[in-house]
Amino acid sequence: MAGQLVLDESLMQNVVPDDLFHRLQPFVSLIHQRMHEGIDDGLGWLKAPLRDQECLLSPVLDAASRIRQDADVFLVVGIGGSYMGARAAVELLPGAGPQVLFAGYQLSSAHFDQIWKHVEEQRVFVNVVSKSGSTLEPALIFRLLWPRLVTRFGEDEARRRIVVTTGVTGALRQLAEANGFPTLPIPEDIGGRYSLLTSVGLLPMAVAGIDIKAVLQGARAAALNLQEPELAANPAYRYAVYRNVMYRQGKIVELLVTDDPKWQSFGEWWKQLFSESEGKDGQGLFPATAQFTTDLHSLGQYIQQGRRVLFETVIEVEKEPVALSIPDMENWSDGFDFLAGKTLHWVNRQTIKATRLAHADGGVPNLAVRIPAVDAFWFGQLVYFFQKACAMSGYLAGVNPFDQPGVEAYKRYAAAVLGRPDLSDLGKELQQRLQDLE
Ligand code: PA5
Repeated sequence: MAGQLVLDESLMQNVVPDDLFHRLQPFVSLIHQRMHEGIDDGLGWLKAPLRDQECLLSPVLDAASRIRQDADVFLVVGIGGSYMGARAAVELLPGAGPQVLFAGYQLSSAHFDQIWKHVEEQRVFVNVVSKSGSTLEPALIFRLLWPRLVTRFGEDEARRRIVVTTGVTGALRQLAEANGFPTLPIPEDIGGRYSLLTSVGLLPMAVAGIDIKAVLQGARAAALNLQEPELAANPAYRYAVYRNVMYRQGKIVELLVTDDPKWQSFGEWWKQLFSESEGKDGQGLFPATAQFTTDLHSLGQYIQQGRRVLFETVIEVEKEPVALSIPDMENWSDGFDFLAGKTLHWVNRQTIKATRLAHADGGVPNLAVRIPAVDAFWFGQLVYFFQKACAMSGYLAGVNPFDQPGVEAYKRYAAAVLGRPDLSDLGKELQQRLQDLE
């Protein structure tokens, strides 16, 4: 399948200086060259789709086929980049197979209780995903799950029902080896939020019945289409430049707009990708999401007339998901006879196009990322497009898009307050401060 995702820049023309792309080209070319030379750790995703993917696919497909034969539910336990992409895929793409659920992405006891009550009588498999193997949330949820699984299935069968997806070292790797849990690898040079196209995202997708070969073909097509340094030929880099110039013009919030609730988790994945990659050194666009037309009746007022700190990126899908014609009805005085015979999808798209114009006229510049259809191939393209754009955007902003030092800060405080022995001095100090606040 050929084709390229389109970046619609028509509503940006009056907002960016004419010669901007020309002026930024040397910086983009230099960053491109250094990215492709692998300047930083964490660039493994960049060229992976261009390589032979058989050694990635084969263990994932084997595990998925074993699981699909014998599962009602597949429970993915992970947080951040270790679950968001998989969740985006299974909610967005049609599949057929066991139900895929997610846990370990927060610490609510009510949520765990609800999940366990839902799965305890079912034929469940559990996929524990953590690259570092030392993340609080999935580790504790796995602790809660394992004895329950042993009680339910017996130890040998419970062990067979676990798949651990983790890095080459770390506590979870050791735990898996000590207990004989089947494992899948996460490459060292691919960080959590860039790991959707590794076994992290591919196993849940394959279990859900999504065509993961098509996902990887989409990523490969995008990797080929986006390998030119020239801005004129590379929509991912153009998108990165627009983000950069928007930020410099005081548009510090980017709203990713989608047109169907099934995009919600994709929006969460996108937010995490950009937020953790760019929000550092006291700068960065704040990534937010909105769903149209729903949010036009809540955020719409602010977008149109609130503080002028926003710009929008709208994902547009050409293909009609379901053909639904608006019926022509006699004696039906709702005032919408003029739409009879049109499809609901057409109305949705026209409304969003008109909204883009209204927002642009109201001082909210906007771009559209257009794909022909929502399917596995275009999902792969979209993921790679945003990953590459994010890397370029981070480097243009002068930050390392592959680290997350801010996340480590909260983790350290939390571990100290929770009583981790090696942080006992800090723990006492923070406990005292917390007591003083009460
Ligand atoms: O992008 C990242 O690196 C993070 O969001 C991680 O994915 C998240 O913190 C989970 O980490 P881990 O997979 O090590 O449990």
